[in-house]
Amino acid sequence: MEVVSTIDALRARLEGERKIAFVPTMGNLHEGHLALMKLARQHASCVVASIFVNRLQFGPTEDFAQYPRTLEEDCAKLKSGKVDIAFTPDENVLYPVPQRVMVDLPPVANELCGKFRPGHFRGVATVVLKLFNIVQPQTAVFGKKDYQQLFIIREIVRELNLPIEIIGAETERDADGLALSSRNGYLSAAERLEATRLYQTLVYIKERIESGERDFGGLQERAEKTLDSHGWRVDYVAVRKSFTLEPAQPADKGLVVLGAAWLGKIRLIDNLEVFITE
Ligand code: PAJ
Repeated sequence: MEVVSTIDALRARLEGERKIAFVPTMGNLHEGHLALMKLARQHASCVVASIFVNRLQFGPTEDFAQYPRTLEEDCAKLKSGKVDIAFTPDENVLYPVPQRVMVDLPPVANELCGKFRPGHFRGVATVVLKLFNIVQPQTAVFGKKDYQQLFIIREIVRELNLPIEIIGAETERDADGLALSSRNGYLSAAERLEATRLYQTLVYIKERIESGERDFGGLQERAEKTLDSHGWRVDYVAVRKSFTLEPAQPADKGLVVLGAAWLGKIRLIDNLEVFITE
């Protein structure tokens, strides 16, 4: 595996590659990220992963400075994950001047997580578009763990006519259901035990919907109360249409249940798709 840190070196290396699959990350890699690399491998002869902690997508009170930076271990994992190229730019490579040109997003970017993290998806969209322009992949892989992010990337590709196929990868979980996340490492032992309740709550809502319940508002409210009573600070629990992220209607067949909540100082997110077949 080659580790490349400048745009010129990456472009020189990629010249002549006909099928590139790209996986952008912020590092501190876990099995969830590595599953994305595996999926990328099925779609291309050349797999490029990027590691870049993107300042633009962190709010002023968020954990940009504390975000775990583990470049050496990450590169070792990418190497054993059969990635061809790790692109590891410094901040002055991606932002040599303060970034002023930004991707303006539709209102969905201000809902769900966007409501609680103003400007977050604008920062994500801007860095992802830059990375797409640098790597120029035919395929890019994103995790369903960040369901709203994946949705917004698909909208960008569609509305800005990018010739890139976006692939959504299933969420990788620990044995108790907790979605793998770089932030899980910050949970105390007691919080780690409690953390699975977010997933369990989403599973409960999914099961209720599958058994015919359609009072989505009531389900959301009860879920928020349950989490609240176990010490969580809930940002939202919501049932949405899976293909548009609009609020779900009783007749909808393709749904997604999403949740975001704080356990101590750690904000966890998760979601589950619900496809009704009858
Ligand atoms: P990061 O949080 O590092 O995630 C990189 C990719 O891994 C994303 O597509 C995310 O959805 C996926 N991922 C994370 N946890 C996962 C899990 N448990 N199972 C499956 N996939 C998982 O998302 C970002 O970085 C950034 O916003 C980025 C897109 C790189 C832009 O800066």
